[in-house]
Amino acid sequence: MTILALETSCDETSAAVVRDGKILSNVVSSQISLHAEYGGVVPELAAREHLKNLLPVAQEALREAGIFPAQLDAVAATQGPGLPNALLVGFKAAQAVAFALNKPFVGINHHEAHLYSPWIAFDGDASIADFQKFQPNISLIVSGGHTLLVFVESELKHRVLGGTIDDAAGECFDKTGKLMGLAYPAGPIIDQLAEQGNPSAYDFPRPLLHDANDDFSFSGLKTSVRYFLRDHPALLDDRQKVSDLCASVQAAIVEVLVKKTIRAAKRNNVRCVTASGGVTCNRALRNELERACKKNGFTLRLAEKNLCTDNAAMIGILAERKLLAHVPLPSLDEEIKPGWVLA
Ligand code: KG4
Ligand code: ZN
Repeated sequence: MTILALETSCDETSAAVVRDGKILSNVVSSQISLHAEYGGVVPELAAREHLKNLLPVAQEALREAGIFPAQLDAVAATQGPGLPNALLVGFKAAQAVAFALNKPFVGINHHEAHLYSPWIAFDGDASIADFQKFQPNISLIVSGGHTLLVFVESELKHRVLGGTIDDAAGECFDKTGKLMGLAYPAGPIIDQLAEQGNPSAYDFPRPLLHDANDDFSFSGLKTSVRYFLRDHPALLDDRQKVSDLCASVQAAIVEVLVKKTIRAAKRNNVRCVTASGGVTCNRALRNELERACKKNGFTLRLAEKNLCTDNAAMIGILAERKLLAHVPLPSLDEEIKPGWVLA
């Protein structure tokens, strides 16, 4: 089965072609530099950029895959959640292609695609869906907009256990970085700077760490960094101290994410942990998850780094799994779901 997938939910315009579980192409055009000067994603600008970039990106994905539109068996796109006008661009284009080719159309929940992306593995030649190794797991989805813990009982059967009650983990990286004067998005910069820093230099709160639920809260941590910098403004002039600060903030975020994920895995009697979403690129998070899973005898599956941030390949792979499982498909006149909550 050959599928063209489009993803335009936020600030990445992406198109991918997948065939029989294999990613033939995955083209991502990032708008990061466009939004950086505003310190965050500007929805109207994002939508206009998607309009400008979608066709060239989709053409490039087809060209790289060596596929003509007539060879497609289905078309998929992100249906939600996301920025309404951004979603509309990819979703309506994909419906139009499906209509023109008279092929099935699959609307995908962006978070559900992240959820299954750790089951895509690089085999030395290409990235391939690896669902024959699937086992029940606790999945951590950590991105700029969301922090979710999900119990994945079987393929395509999952239940959200908890999520953030305020800021997402990526948002916490980005906003604390902004307080330090770092560019947007600050997550990858904090990751870099933290490498030379001491994670025990400054003590920041670990919100909800000891609460008996699967929820997260990061806005208090952000506020404590704000007060800390108000009281120590000269610290920002000392590169080593900035690195120490980055390492300390990162350690607080990572400790909460890892401990709550492991606790959820134990409580739900699963032997496997997975993680995906942009923050899963963070090296400290990857290392700490690895260490904790090893200690507890859990299998760990981390999404490949290039599939952690937003991409159309994960949309295409999930669409194929749904088609193979004969999941009911949306009609061609369905609309986007900007507030679509993963259940
Ligand atoms: O999944 P994603 O590409 O987009 C959303 O759906 O939000 O995630 C983007 C988020 C940003 O907040 C960014 O700062 C964060 O992922 N991020 C990182 C790293 N790489 C990306 N955070 C910490 N360390 C990283 N290495
Ligand atoms: Zn995402």
